[in-house]
Amino acid sequence: MSVRRLAEVQPPSFEFTGENRVWADKQIQKYPPGRQASAIIPLLWQAQKQNGYWLPKPAIEKVAEQLGMPLIRALEIATFYTMFNLEPVGKFYIQMCGTTPCMLQGSDEIKAVLERRIGPPHRVTADGLFSWTEVECLGACCNAPMVQINDDYYEDLTPNNFEKLLDDLAAGRPVKKGSQIGRVTSEPVDGLTSLTEFWGKDGRSGPGKLPKEEGAPDRAAAAGEKVSQDAQPGLNAPLHTQMSQSQEQRTGKPEGSVADTGTRTERPVSGEGKRADDAAQASAPPSKHTP
Ligand code: FES
Repeated sequence: MSVRRLAEVQPPSFEFTGENRVWADKQIQKYPPGRQASAIIPLLWQAQKQNGYWLPKPAIEKVAEQLGMPLIRALEIATFYTMFNLEPVGKFYIQMCGTTPCMLQGSDEIKAVLERRIGPPHRVTADGLFSWTEVECLGACCNAPMVQINDDYYEDLTPNNFEKLLDDLAAGRPVKKGSQIGRVTSEPVDGLTSLTEFWGKDGRSGPGKLPKEEGAPDRAAAAGEKVSQDAQPGLNAPLHTQMSQSQEQRTGKPEGSVADTGTRTERPVSGEGKRADDAAQASAPPSKHTP
């Protein structure tokens, strides 16, 4: 980790805006009397956002004063967590993930674009628009490689689409957040490969089939065909194959057996289930058999 020092040039003062002041008071009220210092992380974070994504010393002092805590405690927190930028950053502050999944998917090429267009890490471009840093995993590994710009993620990057993204940001054009290759969240790039069957609205009436897309291959049918060729009847067969067998095949007990309740246990029922059974028996017509 790099040495974390406060910026040499600092603004003379810091005040929360009226709106942020109200927001900060609400955060502080979440904690019991005497524990207001627990609100320091959200308050520092809000101060950073208000100040163009970097945290000046006057803001740290203001937050410490507001929370009634020694300045050194607030400084310890601000300088420990790398989420707090202690020096000015660009209008578009880029955090590039260089951890293993992103690296294997080409983050080095994304880094090369950043170095060529912006320069070394932590340096703000002359026009004030960009600065960048390398960070550890940001939790979007399925869509690697990726960067975070201010509050948003940009994923499935290539050198080309990343260059275009930077061009659009610089020109003030609207940009697309999330995947840059059009996939929805982290769905498989080539379409579904698993969970191609579903079990009805109530979870019991399946197996059903996903609606077939116009012109798309019926992957569910293909998967079902393969399963029926491969599966051996019995307990090792896939669940939907077992369910298509008769109750007697599945349980080894005759249809209508008392134990064939649809549950996985043959122990006497108890609790809510027992009470429901008792109520059903009490409301049933009396048996014609005499004891
Ligand atoms: S490794 Fe890059 S987001 Fe997880």
